[in-house]
Amino acid sequence: MINCMKLTLPSFSSNESSSRAMVSAFAAQLNPTFDELSDIKCAVSEAVTNSIVHAYRDMIGQIVITVRLYDDRSIRVEIKDRGCGIPDVEAAMQPLFTTDPDGERSGMGFTVIENFMDSLTVRSTPGKGTRVVMNKKLSPLPVKR
Ligand SMILES: Nc1ncnc2c1ncn2[C@@H]1O[C@H](COP(=O)(O)OP(=O)(O)O)[C@@H](O)[C@H]1O
Ligand SMILES: [Mg+2]
Repeated sequence: MINCMKLTLPSFSSNESSSRAMVSAFAAQLNPTFDELSDIKCAVSEAVTNSIVHAYRDMIGQIVITVRLYDDRSIRVEIKDRGCGIPDVEAAMQPLFTTDPDGERSGMGFTVIENFMDSLTVRSTPGKGTRVVMNKKLSPLPVKR
């Protein structure tokens, strides 16, 4: 590992864009392409939004975001909450699955993360919380001459 950042934020909806910006600023030191950085920002947004709107539906709780950068140009982002948890993770990860009663959500958050990152792992315990881990390996830097 070459660098690590840990952020703890309350689940205010304003912290969705803040967390995206902070993770992006930190990841920028690996010199990702514009597209790679966009992918990471989108994936982080989806996971943090889930903690805000689902995990802490009727309350404010803490969201812990850990970002690790590795020598092989891979980046690992962990987003953890102590919210309501997910009873059936496999079902929740299916495209279009949502428990949003108001129909404002698309049920595509996990699908977006899976498509934009190389891997996604979701661990959750109902009543205890959820941990989402995503990895992405960046393309090699262009050789300077
Ligand atoms: N951190 C979380 N805590 C509790 N439930 C979650 C969390 N993340 C996701 N979920 C559950 O998984 C479902 C699917 O998530 P997602 O694919 O992002 O779709 P959406 O957010 O549009 O509903 C959510 O509707 C919710 O039931
Ligand atoms: Mg979502």
